[in-house]
Amino acid sequence: MCTTLCGAGVWRAAQDAVSVPSARMIELRAVDIADLDALYAQMSDPVSSALAAVPSRERSAFDAHWAKIMSNPGTTLATIVADGKVAGHCVCFGEASARDIGYWIDRACWGRGYGSEALRLFLEQLPDRPLKATVAAHNPASMRVLEKNGFTRVGEPVVEDDGVTVVHFELVA
Ligand SMILES: CC(C)(COP(=O)(O)OP(=O)(O)OC[C@H]1O[C@@H](n2cnc3c(N)ncnc32)[C@H](O)[C@@H]1OP(=O)(O)O)[C@@H](O)C(=O)NCCC(=O)NCCS
Repeated sequence: MCTTLCGAGVWRAAQDAVSVPSARMIELRAVDIADLDALYAQMSDPVSSALAAVPSRERSAFDAHWAKIMSNPGTTLATIVADGKVAGHCVCFGEASARDIGYWIDRACWGRGYGSEALRLFLEQLPDRPLKATVAAHNPASMRVLEKNGFTRVGEPVVEDDGVTVVHFELVA
């Protein structure tokens, strides 16, 4: 499973929206409570959930989880906005020596470069290194997003307790 999506935080108010000077018009901004309906829909999509190997939550559990992670000062969250709409989110969480990274794009927006660009923008704002990511081995798009942003594979694929084979990645600089 993708452990990077089990926690999160808040895009700091000091980190203003970052516009991308391209036709894609992606920006990252702080997660607003009003974004949660869209984020819930995106993370409830069964195709997305299967690709990420992250089980969907019921709405009440989702809301409780996001209330917790949005109030956690040790984590960082950002909403991805494309063409004025909530297109996904990025997250970084965990201990300082081993921070995890994650991201999720609305399936309707896949294949437009949003995942790659959103992670690039997110990393620009994160001083933390090293960063880790754990990706299901059946998720080549996510592995490509990581590799395009400088992450490298660590070791061989590992079968986790839930039976999902995962690949570990690291960004050291
Ligand atoms: C993984 C995910 C973030 C990719 O988002 P995206 O916006 O479609 O990504 P991009 O458009 O930036 O494309 C990423 C790269 O993957 C490549 N790719 C896509 N599908 C692929 C496949 N089946 N095999 C190999 N490469 C693939 C694309 O060609 C692109 O590479 P390129 O720029 O060299 O051509 C998106 O599918 C998603 O949110 N999935 C559900 C949640 C998830 O898996 N999160 C990550 C958990 S670790």
